[in-house]
Amino acid sequence: MDYIKLAEQIKEKGIDNIDIAVVLGSGLGFLADEVDGKIITYQEIEGFPKPTVEGHSGKMVLAKIGENNVLFFQGRFHFYEGYSMKDVVIFPRISKLLGGKIYLVTNAAGGINPDFKPGDLMVIKDHLNLMGTNPLIGKNYDIFGPRFPDMTDAYTPELRRLMFEIGDELGIELQSGVYAALTGPSYETPAEIKMLQVMGADAVGMSTVPEVIAARHAGLKVIGVSCITNLAAGVSENPLSHEEVLETTEKVKYHFGKLITKFLETVNV
Ligand code: HPA
Repeated sequence: MDYIKLAEQIKEKGIDNIDIAVVLGSGLGFLADEVDGKIITYQEIEGFPKPTVEGHSGKMVLAKIGENNVLFFQGRFHFYEGYSMKDVVIFPRISKLLGGKIYLVTNAAGGINPDFKPGDLMVIKDHLNLMGTNPLIGKNYDIFGPRFPDMTDAYTPELRRLMFEIGDELGIELQSGVYAALTGPSYETPAEIKMLQVMGADAVGMSTVPEVIAARHAGLKVIGVSCITNLAAGVSENPLSHEEVLETTEKVKYHFGKLITKFLETVNV
């Protein structure tokens, strides 16, 4: 994967000098449709991974939010779709090459913590990489960072504090917790959820962690917000479905959009 060539094409098409990159998770892509700015579809960029669902290529939008140049990615590449880890981490890496300083990740996740309910928003405190692999395996890309990057405070404490302050200001209650990433695409079994609970996970999903590892490797500050779309398997009696995930994101759209927008307006890069 030649990240430099990809970034060059994006620059030629008019997107450069970004401050913040925002990756919009399942059901949360609407935010990229609500902002005005320069749009590039993934399809337009030669060498970008091909969509696995015909006609469902994603797009990126560069918008000015407050003083910040914010690049939104609508549609991510999941490991479970068969993409390589090198494809999965394309967003943090091109964000770095376009000048980005902060990487804001969002996702839909299942709630493991018994205090969580569907519709809650969780600021990610830390993560468990349970995908059985790591995006940094292989030759180190020295242009991004060191062979053995530190993962203490992977989610920047000052950005987490700011997110909570903004939540308070807007009257949006925020949870805090550890996000565990599994490959999927099957949802977890109740036994797996019990295991994750013992391991210290508060929420579970199928994305985010590889991107955060690559973002930290490249020296980007990271902030993550999970939308708890459902109670994890066995936490509630109900079977899980992608429909439920999308229904919940639809319900929290308004709060989620307000929180993220205000954060992007407020944060100093
Ligand atoms: N498990 C894994 N990924 C998810 C879930 C879940 O319960 N909900 C949304 N994404």
